[in-house]
Amino acid sequence: MDPSDESATSDGERSGGSERLQKVLARIGFGSRRACEELIADGLVTVNGEIAELGRRVDPDHDRVEVDGVPVGVRPDLVHYLLNKPAGVVTTAADTHGRPTVLELVPASPRVFPVGRLDMDTEGLLLLTNDGELANRVSHPSHGVEKEYLAEVETEPSRSALRALRQGVELDDGVTAPAKVGLVAPTLVRLVIHEGRNRQVRRMLDAVGHPVVRLIRTRVGPLRDQRLKPGEWRSLTVAEIRELEEAAAEPAGPAPDR
Ligand code: URA
Repeated sequence: MDPSDESATSDGERSGGSERLQKVLARIGFGSRRACEELIADGLVTVNGEIAELGRRVDPDHDRVEVDGVPVGVRPDLVHYLLNKPAGVVTTAADTHGRPTVLELVPASPRVFPVGRLDMDTEGLLLLTNDGELANRVSHPSHGVEKEYLAEVETEPSRSALRALRQGVELDDGVTAPAKVGLVAPTLVRLVIHEGRNRQVRRMLDAVGHPVVRLIRTRVGPLRDQRLKPGEWRSLTVAEIRELEEAAAEPAGPAPDR
């Protein structure tokens, strides 16, 4: 953000819950207020589906803002954490068996919730946020946000087993969508899926005769991090939130469940 812009005028201050659009966009990282005014003047910004005019005020709690067709999270109270979940921690808010939960690993306030679920024994990247709208889009299969896993298996999968995983395998809740599958090492499979079925990767590998020994999620949409140690978390950067919004933007065709 351009500090001179910030002090130049007070017209962008919040008033009655609304703020000037260019100030909101600058705050969340679209550049100086001047640059954001240009985005608006160029007709690239919509509010609730309508092209915004310069001077437009928005209520970050209620108005839906899109830049170049991509929804942007504009509420200042939203937080987005990326956690490297260790094995042995459950992805529920409270565990009836007293086991440690992912919520104990991130700040308690504001209250966040996990986006999707990793099994207790699964490790790796988990997004936690209080942005319910984005969370729904990231986890719903119709938005096609990819999740990438590294699965260690006992013996080297055959080419036909890998092919079956790519084409979709029959599970008790139906055939899986085609997955991207590669062999990273003889007993290390990289699998990319966008469905979020319960224990899906473990069941897929079981179905082709290769039970999982260890499972790590290495990517959620555009989000990767090889530096976070197990149990560590960090906030997403503004650029990452934008990339995630983009990856989870409305699907081109009608969603299957609407
Ligand atoms: N698939 C699984 O089998 N387990 C997970 O935790 C995530 C995906």
